[in-house]
Amino acid sequence: MEERSKSENLRKLLVFVRPYSTRLLGALLITVLLTMAGMVPPLIAMYIIDTVIVAGNWDLLEFLLLASIMLPLISAGLHVLNTYTISYISHRLIMDIRLLMYRHVFSLSMKFHDEMGTGKIMSRMMGDVATVRSMVTMRILRIVTDFVSFFVAMGICYSLSWKLAMLLTVLLPLYVFNYYGFIGGIRTSKRRWRHKMDEVSIGLQERLGGAALVKAYGREKREDRAFTEDTRESLDFAMQTETYRASARTGFWVVSGLRNTLVFCLGCYFVIQGEMTYGQVMAFLSYAMRVFNPVLNLMDVGMMFEQMMVSVDRIFEVLDHEVDIEDKPDAVELSALKGHVKFEHVNFEYQPGEPVLKDICLEVQPGQMVALVGHTGCGKTTLTSLLMRYFDVKDGSIQVDGHDLRDVKLSSLRSQVGQVLQDSVLFNMSLKDNLRYGRLDATEQEIMDAAWVGEIHEFIMRTRNGYDTKIGDDGIKLSVGEKQRLAIARAVLTDPSILILDEATSSLDSLSEALIQKAMANVLKGRTSFVIAHRLSTIVNADLIVVMDQGEIVEIGNHEDLLELPDGKYRQLYDHQYSSNEVEVTAE
Ligand SMILES: Nc1ncnc2c1ncn2[C@@H]1O[C@H](COP(=O)(O)OP(=O)(O)O)[C@@H](O)[C@H]1O
Ligand SMILES: [Mg+2]
Repeated sequence: MEERSKSENLRKLLVFVRPYSTRLLGALLITVLLTMAGMVPPLIAMYIIDTVIVAGNWDLLEFLLLASIMLPLISAGLHVLNTYTISYISHRLIMDIRLLMYRHVFSLSMKFHDEMGTGKIMSRMMGDVATVRSMVTMRILRIVTDFVSFFVAMGICYSLSWKLAMLLTVLLPLYVFNYYGFIGGIRTSKRRWRHKMDEVSIGLQERLGGAALVKAYGREKREDRAFTEDTRESLDFAMQTETYRASARTGFWVVSGLRNTLVFCLGCYFVIQGEMTYGQVMAFLSYAMRVFNPVLNLMDVGMMFEQMMVSVDRIFEVLDHEVDIEDKPDAVELSALKGHVKFEHVNFEYQPGEPVLKDICLEVQPGQMVALVGHTGCGKTTLTSLLMRYFDVKDGSIQVDGHDLRDVKLSSLRSQVGQVLQDSVLFNMSLKDNLRYGRLDATEQEIMDAAWVGEIHEFIMRTRNGYDTKIGDDGIKLSVGEKQRLAIARAVLTDPSILILDEATSSLDSLSEALIQKAMANVLKGRTSFVIAHRLSTIVNADLIVVMDQGEIVEIGNHEDLLELPDGKYRQLYDHQYSSNEVEVTAE
């Protein structure tokens, strides 16, 4: 993955913010105004004490009271406007980023999905995007508010009494030291706590998921102990955090108390000396508070920025990932395929230096059934993934109807190659919607025909709402075999010219061999097919049986040819299955 520098990331992030820059600037301006308005009340109080009460200028009171009533009203109005603007900007911003990520993620090849994994992609699209959102908008406003508060309040303090203001300036470092003294501890223990909570939640998920296993092995007590231990440890860390927090807070109180007492005593002394008025001392005390609090927030800015940049980096890790499989500018739209497939000296590897397919040469005529046979991990699934162009070959080429896969429009290829995998993915929708996932315009009759071919129609008719029955969280649960039959019907509905069945029939135990044979014959009729099956009886009728071993084709031919090879691999596999079947039979 390429390195991205911070400034570059920031620049790219600004591209997202730019469309909203006018609104953001407006919001910042209002924020400054609001902060300034918040600075006025102590001044009003000062005038009321000094000018009205002490000096007896009662005619000013009316104006001052009016001002102190109007100010909060106007501020409230501005505040509503500001909150609205900021919420709008921040939600639009995440929407923009998420949408772009979503589209990008689906334009990336399976290589990216394999490498990054669903969990990581999810956390980038949800968590990191949300972090950036709160940082870019809410936090910026907070920083502006604190910044303005600090400087305006400090300025007013100096203008009220430079001597008292000097005192503040001397006390401020105490406040800061106290903060630094505890913040390290707070952060460390909080991190440990969060880490522990992650463990607790993962452990919980596992135990809940494996509830039956826990019960079956009578492990409730021991699991209980482990869980108790984990939660107790998390309690320790939580208490540690709180202890540090409480200590820090105590420190702040001590310093603030000291500040207030000193300012008050010295202030009163200055009043007696005639240097200050009572109103000024009261106002000074208010502003002193507004100098101290923002400082702490501002000290966090650096850390917040770092945090944000981590999320920004993770977002661009996805967005910057280059699309490695896409249509060439002059890609050909495949018209109806006949189903001629040719692998020419194909080499492929997932990890550099670890070849998974070696010099694969294979030619399949339209309508032929090809069986791929070999031990787990020999590369059968990989070979079919290349035909779907989930990955590009390293060397050699794959052609369908004479077109190199790299020269055709991906969508026109994939819409004509159907694939059924061992663990079929179905969505939380009705059975009908799952069936027509690949062809939304299918008629009811076509859907039903496909279900017949997949031997699933009768099952569907037995469910409560037939084709409209929902599956998933709030619907029926399906067995693996039922899922596979649905997936087969779904693939058949798109009427693909080339069909890949990757161990798609391995869980159809509920059907007898004869039924499977019949179903297979229905499904494969008139298509080029690649069938991977452990049960060799399923593939004895194949036109071509391709025996693979460690990424290489070691034998190729039909059932009879291959059985005749004296020390052939196919013969070994066949004999093995045949004899183990016999053992099963005799054992019965
Ligand atoms: N997405 C992947 N990333 C890295 N290695 C993989 C991936 N998929 C499969 N492999 C590896 O490639 C080899 C062939 O796997 P596969 O094609 O799934 O074999 P088969 O389907 O014959 O069991 C195995 O060694 C497997 O570990
Ligand atoms: Mg496989």
